[in-house]
Amino acid sequence: MDNRIPAVKMRNITKRFGSVVANDKCWLDVYRGEILALLGENGSGKTTLMNMLSGIYFPDEGTIAIDGKEVVIASPKDAFDLGIGMIHQHYKLVDVFTAAENIVLGLPGKLDMRTASAKIREICGKYGFEVDPDMKIYDMSVSQKQTVEIVKVLYRGADILILDEPTAVLTPQETDRLFAVLRNMRDDGKAIVIITHKMHEVEDLSDRVAVLRKGQFTGDMLTKNTNAQEMTNMMVGRPVALNINRTEPEDPKPRIQVRDLTVRDMEGTLKLDHVSFTACSGEILGIAGISGCGQKELLEAIAGLQPVETGDISYVESDGSEESLIGKDPLDIKKMGVALSFVPEDRLGMGLVGSMDLGDNVMLRSYSEGNSVFTDRKKSYKVARGIVEYFDVVTPSVETPVRRLSGGNVQKVLVGREIVNAPKVLLTAYATRGLDINSSYQIYETISEQKRKGVAVIYVGEDLDVLVELCDRILVLCGGRVSGVVDGRKTNKREIGAMMTRLGGEGRG
Ligand SMILES: Nc1ncnc2c1ncn2[C@@H]1O[C@H](COP(=O)(O)OP(=O)(O)OP(=O)(O)O)[C@@H](O)[C@H]1O
Ligand SMILES: [Mg+2]
Repeated sequence: MDNRIPAVKMRNITKRFGSVVANDKCWLDVYRGEILALLGENGSGKTTLMNMLSGIYFPDEGTIAIDGKEVVIASPKDAFDLGIGMIHQHYKLVDVFTAAENIVLGLPGKLDMRTASAKIREICGKYGFEVDPDMKIYDMSVSQKQTVEIVKVLYRGADILILDEPTAVLTPQETDRLFAVLRNMRDDGKAIVIITHKMHEVEDLSDRVAVLRKGQFTGDMLTKNTNAQEMTNMMVGRPVALNINRTEPEDPKPRIQVRDLTVRDMEGTLKLDHVSFTACSGEILGIAGISGCGQKELLEAIAGLQPVETGDISYVESDGSEESLIGKDPLDIKKMGVALSFVPEDRLGMGLVGSMDLGDNVMLRSYSEGNSVFTDRKKSYKVARGIVEYFDVVTPSVETPVRRLSGGNVQKVLVGREIVNAPKVLLTAYATRGLDINSSYQIYETISEQKRKGVAVIYVGEDLDVLVELCDRILVLCGGRVSGVVDGRKTNKREIGAMMTRLGGEGRG
């Protein structure tokens, strides 16, 4: 029994979008001085529930009390006045302004940038942020932009903070830094809600967890009294197996041969420096490396989307004959069976059109492959229905505009669309970004199934635990060079982590 008065008390909150019940008589308590992890599968209503606290949506039914007093939150301004601040997945900053300008933007009263900068520095010092108030947003990394968003809500006096999947686009190091700040804010008495799909983050950071399932509150408990398996079962509503079935590669044959590959990005920075390796059929080759160390350029170079300075990339036929991919049109490379599925930081930013429905998005894909727009309509809806069924995409129908889908469901479509084309080589990056834990395991199984079908899979991912469980071999990049290739069955997270930050592994494999 908890006798404290919660900072936030939501009761019987219901929110409908047409026929979709996003929240169904939902409960939630959040206390000061705690970090609450809000859990649930993709589409379970987490973002919607928090949007009603931050004044973006208004509940159809139910009550909200702040510090024991019932309130009406009809706008973001109402939320701010109550000390509630939300950091959304898509940042809302003005690119050409500085950090300080963004932070004070829209505040009433006369603008005094000197005072503002001083106050920003004070907030940063207090909680351990690093922000340069005079830096322009367009010069910032994703993590710096996120910091500006957080300082912005603190500047406005927020003491109830909501963060919607803040680590989805951060590197492990940036995540550690964010968590240190969040712990400081908790110890300072703030109430913090974090939405995340990463179980080890829940276990590391949160004091309590609350679980939603299909829009309903299914329970809360202290983090120390539960574990990943129990939380996942609660989210899904039945026991779920959290393991990866890694089979021995069957008759692996070289499929992609990379020799001495050197690539520069658009600014002329060296991204890949004489990289050589072989990817085989029937095998998952993992690529590990700290963020931005050439993984993206590597996959794009293979897919023909990235100019190559020197070196060669060849497609190897089953009889051993080779065909160089250098200088080929990306569409021709795709037709040879090389599929690229790159899940970007902004999922709607790439490859999907938000206003179009699922079927049309699938069709868009086949149209880009040179098929007629008119003949394939029926087929693309059939394919879309297949993707929805296979990946349990939560959507009223394949005619629903993609932007209405929850973030994770959008992404299942993005990955599924590549796999249904039966590729020979599957290049995948950040395939589970934003996906709930159950869906992530579905994706690992899908990728493993591709491998068993003889596909050569090259897998780029950030989660080292998954890399060592899923991949047969792991190529580790460090500063654009290969620091080694290790056997997934013999290595561990620590060895890979060390190789990511220094060159001179033994180059096994
Ligand atoms: N503006 C909207 N219009 C119609 N339906 C919506 C809207 N916003 C959300 N939904 C639907 O409400 C349900 C809950 O969505 P919500 O975004 O809250 O899920 P979530 O738990 O945050 O999922 P994820 O983990 O994927 O981010 C989903 O079925 C979604 O499609
Ligand atoms: Mg969400």
